[in-house]
Amino acid sequence: MSIGAGATALSAWMLKPVLNHMVDGEGFKTLQYLAAGVTGLFFVRGLATWGYQVVLARTGNRIVASVQRKLYEHLLQQDMRFFHGRHSTELMTHLGGAASGVRDALQVVITSAGRDVLTLVGLIIVMIIQDPVMALIALSIMPLGGYALNRLIRRVRQSARRSYAGSALILETIQETVQGIRIVKSFNLEASMRKRMNDAVREVERSVNRMASGQAISSPISDGVAGIAIGAVIFYGSWRVSIAGADPGSFFSFVGALLMAYEPGKKIARLHLDIQSGLTGARMIYEVLDTPAQEKTETDLPNLQVSEGRITFHDVSFSYRDEEPVLDELNLVAEPNSTTALVGPSGGGKSTIVALIQRFFQPADGQIRIDGQNIMDVDLASLRDKIAFVSQDVFLFRGTIRDNIAMGKTGATEDEIVDAARMANAHDFIMGFTSGYDTNVGEQGAQLSGGQRQRIAIARAFLKNAPIILLDEPTAALDSESEREVQKALDSLRHGRTTIVVAHRLQTIVNSDRICVIENGRAVETGTHDELIVAKGTYHAFFATQFGESATPVKFGASARSH
Ligand SMILES: Nc1ncnc2c1ncn2[C@@H]1O[C@H](COP(=O)(O)OP(=O)(O)OP(=O)(O)O)[C@@H](O)[C@H]1O
Ligand SMILES: [Mg+2]
Repeated sequence: MSIGAGATALSAWMLKPVLNHMVDGEGFKTLQYLAAGVTGLFFVRGLATWGYQVVLARTGNRIVASVQRKLYEHLLQQDMRFFHGRHSTELMTHLGGAASGVRDALQVVITSAGRDVLTLVGLIIVMIIQDPVMALIALSIMPLGGYALNRLIRRVRQSARRSYAGSALILETIQETVQGIRIVKSFNLEASMRKRMNDAVREVERSVNRMASGQAISSPISDGVAGIAIGAVIFYGSWRVSIAGADPGSFFSFVGALLMAYEPGKKIARLHLDIQSGLTGARMIYEVLDTPAQEKTETDLPNLQVSEGRITFHDVSFSYRDEEPVLDELNLVAEPNSTTALVGPSGGGKSTIVALIQRFFQPADGQIRIDGQNIMDVDLASLRDKIAFVSQDVFLFRGTIRDNIAMGKTGATEDEIVDAARMANAHDFIMGFTSGYDTNVGEQGAQLSGGQRQRIAIARAFLKNAPIILLDEPTAALDSESEREVQKALDSLRHGRTTIVVAHRLQTIVNSDRICVIENGRAVETGTHDELIVAKGTYHAFFATQFGESATPVKFGASARSH
């Protein structure tokens, strides 16, 4: 950059000997050298520009890459609350758009601070050498332009923020349209989605326009200011040359330097304006980066040791929002070598219990223990290593069925994957596809049926072969036959393991060793099916309303069908 700036200043300075020799009418030879010199200087300037642009682009791209990596790393360390409070597209805009905005802003800053400032300094030196008084006249007008430009900044900044928000909304609409296309079509939502999209697009267009006109208005301002400066210089200069008899070379060199200084001067003046969009992006990135990492992976905590696998809740209270308790001094024991079923009305807190065991959230009060160790005092990764989880809403990743099952265990062999799929009663339907285990599941498993997705999720959990199994309604989307098969697999798995299963289906409930009725964030009843029926309490009532008085609880193996 300094080579380029030096070359520019030198070429302005050379106007003086060029003009003076021309006026002298002699030095044609000198002029030839000067011509060659100017040509050379421009080549040097071009090469220097090429060099710094390559370096700058690479530096900028590396910054984008490192910001993206850092942001993602930070995302991984956030807890559920962080994610539940945001729309995924908001984070996408931050990760994608904002990072490159930062790069662009940085490049503008570096170019201005480097090339433009250096060039300007060089040219100002030339001006001072040629005519100090004229230089003073020209320079005194500069602050005026700077002041006028700074007033535009606030407007540009606001528009930049709006355009980011609008872009996030566009992404959000596209994402929800793609993922919810069945609902969009079935409910004839095309018109309202179109309106949402149009509003977002219009908002982005409007704010980008506003940003552009804010930035463009800097041109008339700086042109006006420059016009005044150049006019004053020409007036004073021609007086000096024609009346006071100064040499014309200095004058022309001065004007040359002044004209050349205009571009970099203008760029520096609007620097603040041009980086507003990037600064807004940077601010959003730091908003995410400054959210403290919630899931600190303290390395000094001991690993969880599972000997039996007894899970106990001691007076656990928890709420998602203040003043809205979800769990209220809950006490619960899940015995090893057995299956504990959590049953109860929707919204009672069953999924929350399953989430707390995995430390997705932190209880406000009370303790959760596994074999006597408080789960808050053990290494988080070691805790989750010991747990196999099937969530209520099955999630599949991009890729094939094999990829999705293999997520359960790093380095799983083909045999292990097939075994897990067999246990989950998934092998047969998988082999029914022409591509078998290589069948693509589509985005979030869109190419599979609900029951198939569920069995893949179960296979993934089986493959993990963990001592604690948490199943949130694992058989909700299965037909009775598949349910029975999965049930059989669960049954064989329970030995040497602790299983907690959130259940709505008769078959699953009846086959559990113990049943825990969760209502309003408390375990209101605990016992075996027979005990609870005899007790004629909440479970009895629940059972009667769910399955009817007549439903005979048939232990696994017979054909119990709920209606
Ligand atoms: N992320 C969240 N933020 C705020 N409230 C939540 C959140 N998740 C759940 N809740 C609330 O907590 C309560 C318990 O929810 P939970 O998912 O544990 O119920 P559940 O017993 O699993 O119900 P279901 O049988 O319908 O799955 C509900 O009132 C629910 O609205
Ligand atoms: Mg639930």
